[in-house]
Formats: sequence, C-alpha cells, structure tokens
Amino acid sequence: MTRRLLITGGSGYLGRHLVRRVAAGWPGAWRYTTFSADPLGRPQGARLDLRDGAAVARFVAGFAPDAIIHTAGSNTTPDMTAVIVDGTRHVAEAAARAGARLVHLSTDSIFGGDRAPYDESAPPAPLNEYGRAKAAAEALALAHPNAVAVRTSLIYGLEEMDNGTAWMAAALRAGQPVTLFTNQRRNPVWVETLVAACLELLDLPYRGVLNVAGRQTLSRAEFGLRLLDWWGIGKRDTLSLAEDTSGRWPVDCALNVGRAGGLLQTPLLGVDEVLGGAVFFASGPRLALSAAEPSGSIVRFRTVVIYEDVTVAVIGEDGATAFSNLSGCFQPARGLRVEVPKFL
Ligand SMILES: NC(=O)c1ccc[n+]([C@@H]2O[C@H](COP(=O)([O-])OP(=O)(O)OC[C@H]3O[C@@H](n4cnc5c(N)ncnc54)[C@H](OP(=O)(O)O)[C@@H]3O)[C@@H](O)[C@H]2O)c1
Repeated sequence: MTRRLLITGGSGYLGRHLVRRVAAGWPGAWRYTTFSADPLGRPQGARLDLRDGAAVARFVAGFAPDAIIHTAGSNTTPDMTAVIVDGTRHVAEAAARAGARLVHLSTDSIFGGDRAPYDESAPPAPLNEYGRAKAAAEALALAHPNAVAVRTSLIYGLEEMDNGTAWMAAALRAGQPVTLFTNQRRNPVWVETLVAACLELLDLPYRGVLNVAGRQTLSRAEFGLRLLDWWGIGKRDTLSLAEDTSGRWPVDCALNVGRAGGLLQTPLLGVDEVLGGAVFFASGPRLALSAAEPSGSIVRFRTVVIYEDVTVAVIGEDGATAFSNLSGCFQPARGLRVEVPKFL
C-alpha cells in the first residue's frame, strides 16, 4: 500500500490536478516537484531540476517514497529532450534505488500514426523530436523493475482549460489563424480520469505499458470544436478545418484501451460522456460526476468531485469552487443551492 507518494511536474496541467486530488485526502505523506514556478504554493512542493541527476538522487533518497508518479516534461518544455530523457533516467534510477513503484506518463505521440488502433504491444515509431524523446523515456522507465508506462492522449479538463485549448482560445481571440485537423485521430482523456487511473495504478501489481485514455476516438477537429463549445468561445472567424499533410505529427493514434478497461475501476469515459452531463465516474472510494445543466432552481454546475474524505468540490459555471461535506445537498457560498444527484 502506497504511503509516501512523490509527484514530479506538480506545476504542470496533469500534475496540478494530481496534487489537488492528493491534497484533498491522501492518507500518507506526499510531496511534489516543480521547476520554473509553483502555482499551488503548498508546503509539500519543492523546486527540482530533473536534468540534475545528483539533485534528483538526493531528493528521492531524502523523501524515500513508496511510489513516484512522473508527469514532468512535455512537448512545451524548454530543453525538452534533456528534461524528458535524462530526467526520466534520473527519476527511474532513483525510484529503483528507493524501491519505489514508478508510474511514468507516456504519450500516443510515440507512434507513427499509420497502424492504428494501437494496443500495448505496439512498438514506438516516432515522427518528431517529442515522440523520440518520449519513446526513449518510456524505455528508460520500463527498465525499472516496478514500473508502468501509461500511454495516454490529449488531456482536457472541465474546470481549468488544458494547455492546447488555452493556446487555441488565445489565438482565436487575437484573430490569429488556427487549423483543426480532420484526419488526426486521438482518444482524449478527461484529466479526472487520468488522475484517478494513475492513483489506482499505485497499488496494482501491473507492470509494463498500459494504454489509459478515453474510450471515444475523435478527430482533432471534432474534439477541438467540442471544447470550443464547452468553453463558450464563439469567435471563430480565423478557424479552419483541414487535413494534416505535414507528416510532422502522427495522423491516426487511436488507442485500444480494452486492457485498462478490464484492469481499472476508473471508467475511461469518452469525451461525449464527460461533456454530455450527468455522467458518473468512480474509482474506489473516489467519485466524481459531471453535470452540464441541472434543471429548475438548481444552480448550473460543471463538475462535482467527491474525494475520499467525502469533501465535495462543486465547480460552478464561472469556475468558482465551493466545498462541502457530502450530505445529499448543501449550501455553497453565494447562497446557491446545489443538489448531489440521486444516484449518489
Ligand atoms: N497534455 C497532453 O495532452 C498530454 C498528452 C499525452 C501525454 N502527455 C504526458 O503527460 C505528462 C503531463 O503533461 P502536461 O501537459 O500536464 O505537462 P505540462 O503542463 O507541460 O507540465 C510540464 C511539467 O514539467 C516540468 N518541468 C519542465 N522542465 C523541468 C525540469 N527541467 N525539471 C523538472 N521539471 C520540469 C514543468 O515545471 P514548471 O512548470 O514548474 O517549469 C511542469 O510541471 C507529460 O509527461 C506528457 O508527456 C500529455
């Protein structure tokens, strides 16, 4: 049973969601690392440059985690290859020395995009520097005897815009051209799904590659348009839809998520299930649901997350969050009444 948990990349999009979930009810000790900034500002945070092997070794040995969720290093990271490849090597070696389980975040961008759907046996065939770095990092992580490499896809959330959507929204607002590709296919994953799956994997005996993504495959265009609708971004005069023929990114990265679907309690909800409202999401003692528009006098809300300690977070239409204990219904700040739907 994991008691001491370390999260790398706690300042990143996935990392922030992981840290918030852990902060709301993790039963043991936990810490997280950041690099250029710590938007969460919690005492468990520490600045650590993962390119510095000696510093990583010292930090991990000092905290002595039972498990590490390694999210740091993405396609927007400066000095990307060094952070992803050397950083993962340092984290995996330190994890092995500490006897810690490693949950490593990998990506569908390691694929060539011409052999979909991809299952766990599919070998990497990267097309670009990011894919090559992540493929190398995955191999380094899996050299550790107790590691799982989570191959995932586009990460999105309902209460905080993901990095890609934020870029798209900013460009459209500024009147800059944005092209959504109609032939690039992905299995986008709700960040709450990925958080729950990573935490669930800490205490499962599974080792090796595991595809963890939403069960619905969409084109980037279908996905992007759904998120623009969700975030209410109507200014689209510089938006176009087209096929990607550049060869820089894999075209079809559809993932077969059947293995994770059988292994995990966390349901691998598709985009339409998440956005469609009133979907139920459960992982062991953690529950979350999303509801688009309850009727009548009930306030509209976007997401309800029920943590292990039965704290309920309700994220309103305006992004404001109210917390309460689970009691069927409760009174958040601002006098609005929110009911937890009957099936809870
Ligand atoms: N986002 C997606 O759609 C997607 C899709 C598939 C797979 N993934 C994988 O999922 C993971 C999380 O992605 P994300 O989008 O949440 O990442 P992100 O928001 O871009 O965050 C990247 C993290 O890496 C940290 N970092 C950068 N340079 C560092 C260094 N030298 N030393 C230590 N940490 C450093 C950043 O710290 P600072 O911010 O403090 O500098 C930040 O916490 C990544 O492994 C990514 O490859 C993401």
